[in-house]
Amino acid sequence: MAGALGAHWVRAGHEVTVGGRDGKKAARLAERIGAAAHGSLAEAAGSGDAVLLALPYGVGERVVAELQVPLAGRVLVDCCNPVGEGFRLLTRGGPAAARRIADAAPGAHVVKAFNLCHEDTWRLDPPVFDGRPLAVPLCGDDEQALDLVGELVRDTGCRPLSAGGLDRAALLEATAALVIQLWVGEGEDAQAMLPPLAASGPAASGRAA
Ligand SMILES: NC(=O)c1ccc[n+]([C@@H]2O[C@H](COP(=O)([O-])OP(=O)(O)OC[C@H]3O[C@@H](n4cnc5c(N)ncnc54)[C@H](OP(=O)(O)O)[C@@H]3O)[C@@H](O)[C@H]2O)c1
Repeated sequence: MAGALGAHWVRAGHEVTVGGRDGKKAARLAERIGAAAHGSLAEAAGSGDAVLLALPYGVGERVVAELQVPLAGRVLVDCCNPVGEGFRLLTRGGPAAARRIADAAPGAHVVKAFNLCHEDTWRLDPPVFDGRPLAVPLCGDDEQALDLVGELVRDTGCRPLSAGGLDRAALLEATAALVIQLWVGEGEDAQAMLPPLAASGPAASGRAA
């Protein structure tokens, strides 16, 4: 995810720093995508206007809690899918992955984004289907952070979609579990299950919501 999304942001002119626990791997990825810099997790988390956490479920909160850099006021983008074997939602009615990260980084502005689609989708330049840019739902509580991540979404060629506060992130994570099961487990076209806006509920019948 870091490589796929980072490549868009490098192309868009951002100064991207790739961070990792393995310096050589971080350096290789930085070179591959043309990032401005590479370094430790702390160095990457301390640089730039926003930090993408491209880490497995359960690792993100441990990493942010252990970072020796102040994260209060920083924008943390969480793309994690807590989806395990059998497409099981690993949070099991507990806090969302995004909430766990927010709890581990008090004062940081966590935005859930980019979790619904496979990394290969984010490698498309641009991810536009039948002339429509992919819509990327964002959940977060801070308007400025949402605006910033919205710009990062546009820089990938997609369209940001406001999906509510961070308390809605659990729904995005559950949605990912469902669509991954449909795509990977059933070989179904998950996109086909939703009608266009004009044919959805009140819009279809002309009634007010
Ligand atoms: N791949 C997808 O299609 C996709 C799509 C949507 C959402 N996501 C979500 O995006 C997140 C990242 O997925 P990914 O596919 O980019 O994973 P990935 O390629 O496996 O990268 C995971 C990164 O996490 C690092 N990491 C793992 N354990 C760590 C630890 N204990 N401490 C520090 N760093 C650690 C790894 O470092 P090392 O290289 O040193 O092991 C690696 O850099 C996941 O939460 C996933 O659910 C993935």
